[in-house]
Amino acid sequence: MRIGVLTSGGDCPGLNAVIRAVVRRGIKDYGDTIIGFHDSWRGVLEREYEELSILRLRGYLPRGGTILGTSRVQPYMFDGGPEKAGAILKELGVEAMIVIGGEGSLSCGLALQSDGHVNIVGVPKTIDNDVGGTERTFGFDTAVGIATDAIDRLHTTAESHDRVIVVEVMGRHVGHIATWAGIAGGATMTLIPEQPFDISEVAEALSRRHQQKFASIVVVAEGATPKEGTMEIKEPEVDQYGHKRLGGIGYVVAQEIEKRTKIETRLTVLGHVQRGGTPTPYDRVLCTRFGVAAVDAVHRGEFGSMVALNNDRVHTVPLAEAVKDLRYVNPEVWETAKVFFP
Ligand code: F6P
Repeated sequence: MRIGVLTSGGDCPGLNAVIRAVVRRGIKDYGDTIIGFHDSWRGVLEREYEELSILRLRGYLPRGGTILGTSRVQPYMFDGGPEKAGAILKELGVEAMIVIGGEGSLSCGLALQSDGHVNIVGVPKTIDNDVGGTERTFGFDTAVGIATDAIDRLHTTAESHDRVIVVEVMGRHVGHIATWAGIAGGATMTLIPEQPFDISEVAEALSRRHQQKFASIVVVAEGATPKEGTMEIKEPEVDQYGHKRLGGIGYVVAQEIEKRTKIETRLTVLGHVQRGGTPTPYDRVLCTRFGVAAVDAVHRGEFGSMVALNNDRVHTVPLAEAVKDLRYVNPEVWETAKVFFP
């Protein structure tokens, strides 16, 4: 078969590991031709692609980023875009596309499939871990590791100065990274989008704790929001793809904590450090399993599906199910995190 592959949306550690697995499984076990499109759907719409060989992927298993490049461009942004993408793929003889992307890219994949333009198999990618239908997206484990390492380091400097340090981590709609890194790093408190916070309660808890001369680490997910009417925050800017540019809540939280508690407070924003560099061994294995499973799904003709991990089994779920609801923080994990709040 001729199978296309593209990486879409924000990058994520492990993209190359998935591409490598797709190429290896497809070429070695099925005799497929694998076409890699550049910068997501831009490469399809502008006919920018390369045939991927096993040699091209040599050495890329541990490497972050994506050899194909990525973007948020998708066919539905343009008049006649979906028809054009479908026609170009047909002309190139591409029988199916493996779309490695998060919730937005997978929704686009579902629309292209439902509208009859191209056969799609999705692979769930995002450090946020918020795709439905799967217990894990790849990249999450790496991001949690990076955030935990940062929290470990911040503990010692916070303790030396008896300060509060606010650490802002990624997570626009959900607080998986914040919750997991908060538990793993022994954070004092964690603020996540699923649980609107009251800044006066946060400040009171920190003041109580600091009476005993304790430094504090407060982990804030970039999408965390205050309870209505408790604190003013600025509406984020929106980029050219309608994507809100988050980041900034940590600054407001740190300022308010210092103002209310009179404890010296500092802010660390981890930002894209969480998305860069080499994937963890867990993510490398998950990516490899996902890539192999995606090619198998194509050969079984399971289009309009996404590979998923549930109960340590890689299988497929309908794309419609995967994009129906975001995957929020497991309430049991959140309750466990809260046991350690002051
Ligand atoms: O969805 C993954 C993610 O890393 C979010 O956590 C974050 O809000 C967003 O991407 C950042 O996107 P960009 O790289 O466009 O700033």
